[in-house]
Amino acid sequence: MMKLRKQATAMMALGLLALSVGGMARAADPDPGVDLVINGDTKLVTRVPAPANIPGLKEVYSGWLFHDPTTQAMETDDFSNPAMLAVDAGNAAWSTVMGTEGKSCASCHNGIDSMKGVRASMPKVNKAGKLWSLEDYINDCVTNRMGAKALGWNSNEMSGLTSAISMQSRGMPVDVATDGAAAPFWKEGEKLYYTRTGLLELSCASCHEMHFGDHVRDERLSQGQINGFPVYRLKTTNMVSIHNRFYGCVRDTRAESYKEGTDPLRELELYVASRGNGLSIEGVSVRP
Ligand code: HEC
Ligand code: HEC
Repeated sequence: MMKLRKQATAMMALGLLALSVGGMARAADPDPGVDLVINGDTKLVTRVPAPANIPGLKEVYSGWLFHDPTTQAMETDDFSNPAMLAVDAGNAAWSTVMGTEGKSCASCHNGIDSMKGVRASMPKVNKAGKLWSLEDYINDCVTNRMGAKALGWNSNEMSGLTSAISMQSRGMPVDVATDGAAAPFWKEGEKLYYTRTGLLELSCASCHEMHFGDHVRDERLSQGQINGFPVYRLKTTNMVSIHNRFYGCVRDTRAESYKEGTDPLRELELYVASRGNGLSIEGVSVRP
């Protein structure tokens, strides 16, 4: 009883009460028939049947589908997409020498098109058996191969590089491994996804699986997919990394949040990425 009351209070705080009475949680599908076509020629996949290991969803949707037409339109044309500034910065950084070894990324990797497909498989287990995000792979090169200081997870330098690298996979399906060496990390991520935390006792699933399509305060809930990252957020007018978004969502449940670049967020990233296996990588996207 106590527990029920606490949950009811939490739901009320979020304006979700009407939708959760009697456990009648449901989620609303986005409008059918809208397609994300970029620059008039690149058609992206924004909805696919849910992967077999995600029993909580029937179909998976890109966050793009849930937002207002003005926000959607910004992503359909690279000239009106503010995230393209980060891509430009990343492309410039790619061939800029830094660190004691006198090298740029291009010295070893040649053109940035050599990064095609890399973003679509991230995060993935490295040769040492650790789960690494794209930021970890970049910082490994920056520190161990270039002799420079690690880039901050949320720094402009990092978001520039992740944005420019992600663009090389635009239109490719998210394709993260969940089996083999990745399996134990994926299991941990799944556990985190369904764990209720914080004063509000909410899990990721409470909002993004049970209530996508519904409104919370002034926002419309999506499935919390990460195929669109890095994201330019209109609300904060900056680029947001996957871990930074997770951090904010956990904090909003009034829980102690995990810092960017920690193992729990890498595991959560793998699991959340796998919920969107098959959706197109958007390169960079625009969100409210
Ligand atoms: C001195 C050579 C060198 C430089 C300079 C270098 N890298 Fe690398 N990088 C490598 C090597 C070698 C690997 C592959 C390691 C492996 O497969 O074990 C790699 C791997 C990567 C990967 C992972 C790719 C994948 O498919 O898993 C990314 C991402 C990456 N580098 C980004 C960068 C960026 C961004 C820069 C510049 C900031 C950079 N690298 C600079 C040598 C370099
Ligand atoms: C209280 C409800 C709530 C909870 C709990 C919550 N989120 Fe969110 N989340 C939001 C809202 C609101 C947004 C902004 C609207 C949107 O994009 O869905 C958002 C956005 C996101 C996005 C951005 C999606 C995009 O396309 O840009 C991701 C990713 C995300 N959440 C992941 C998570 C994860 C992982 C958890 C669990 C650790 C979580 N969220 C928990 C409310 C929540």
